[in-house]
Amino acid sequence: MFERATKVMIRGGSHTLRLWKPYPFFPASAQGATVTDLDGSVYLDYWQGHYANLLGHNPEVIRQELEPYLAAGSLHTGFENSVQIELAEKILTALAQPGLKIRFTTSGTLAATYAIMLAMGYTGRYYVLKIGGGWHGSSPYLLKGAKFHPGRGFNQMDSAGLPPELARHIIVTRFNDQEQLEKTFKRYGSKLAAFILEPFIGVGGFLFCSPEYLKLARKLADDYGVVLIFDEIISGFRFCPSGLQKLYGVRPDLSLFGKLIGGGQAVAAVAGRAKIMSGCETAGSSGWHVNFEGGTFSAHEEYMRAGLAMLNYLTSHGKEIYPRLGQLTARLRQGIEQAFAAEGLKVVCTGSGQTAIDGSSFFMVNFPQKDKISYSSPEDVWDPARSDVFLREEALKLALLINGVHVVHGGGCLSTAHTEQDIDRTIEAYRQAASIFRRFL
Ligand SMILES: Cc1ncc(COP(=O)(O)O)c(C=O)c1O
Repeated sequence: MFERATKVMIRGGSHTLRLWKPYPFFPASAQGATVTDLDGSVYLDYWQGHYANLLGHNPEVIRQELEPYLAAGSLHTGFENSVQIELAEKILTALAQPGLKIRFTTSGTLAATYAIMLAMGYTGRYYVLKIGGGWHGSSPYLLKGAKFHPGRGFNQMDSAGLPPELARHIIVTRFNDQEQLEKTFKRYGSKLAAFILEPFIGVGGFLFCSPEYLKLARKLADDYGVVLIFDEIISGFRFCPSGLQKLYGVRPDLSLFGKLIGGGQAVAAVAGRAKIMSGCETAGSSGWHVNFEGGTFSAHEEYMRAGLAMLNYLTSHGKEIYPRLGQLTARLRQGIEQAFAAEGLKVVCTGSGQTAIDGSSFFMVNFPQKDKISYSSPEDVWDPARSDVFLREEALKLALLINGVHVVHGGGCLSTAHTEQDIDRTIEAYRQAASIFRRFL
């Protein structure tokens, strides 16, 4: 199947992360915590639809909503639908902050791009500040400092095909570093349209921002008239039935949501202060306009229904779901560290470490190059001098696949479909991987 794919697609597919070497498997079916491939091999999956499937693969709750809807003949119409109003109300009620408006789109990349355009339109400025290691999709305004470049850190453009002068307009600062943030605002604050950050940094290493850092970000953004954007595409509804912003008590001007709010379908959104969001209006009273007018599949009713079913379920079951996921994942992190220690190898699992939440369902397994790596920044996770990135990203993946477990970046996230037995099986798979590694390290 993969050979056939390479004849018609670059590298044999449409998403680089899904195309691991030597070749990826192709799912035949997926249910709950597991995926079955075309050869009939079954994998416990911790990728879970790029972290979108908090209820596991193909959950009953969402299928029950979509199946009768699709059976009634309800493909795309290109008209407005009332379900989007319900989803909009649901998200804004969950954020519990007055004066917000929301607009839907179909990917996190688009939401990030539109949010930056809104910030630029609103402020009349054209510089953006972001975090080294922060990933916001392939938005041209943010394709700098997402990937670590040995010797240069998180400070290079991540893509060709962009005007060279764009590099000067994207400023990168260090995750959770308050001193550097103050210095950066002093230097660039009056030029900045936006400061965008993930309160829980995803690809950067599954690390939480400190509440003090977020408070400082809010204060500096206010002092310098900069639009503060929280990218909650991973963290939204993942740790509680709202954004992390609610738990931290720090409010951005604009928020990005995606993944979970689509219940497995293509939904993302920008939500924020009405004054900034009003830039979407073509003949707005604001005197400026951003072309965030919508795309062919924006707020597709099928997607809206899936998202609403997901968020309704999370709000009504949140009290059980989040603490349980937190406990199971804590056991998994500890079990993995112990399994490697038993083989004489040190690993450090990131993903936890924030007391404001009931527990985190993320885990990333890191291989420190030295004893004293604190795992407090994306540099700790992505600098090959600090972590063995090859072991985490490539070797561990294959060592686990042959033991029936699928991970990305050395780990992933739990869903409500994962059980205590799944955790035991997974720890055992990591133990087997550790014993393979020990023979070679
Ligand atoms: C924090 C964050 N922002 C933005 C994006 C981009 O979203 P999408 O892949 O839907 O374009 C991602 C994707 O993983 C993400 O993790």
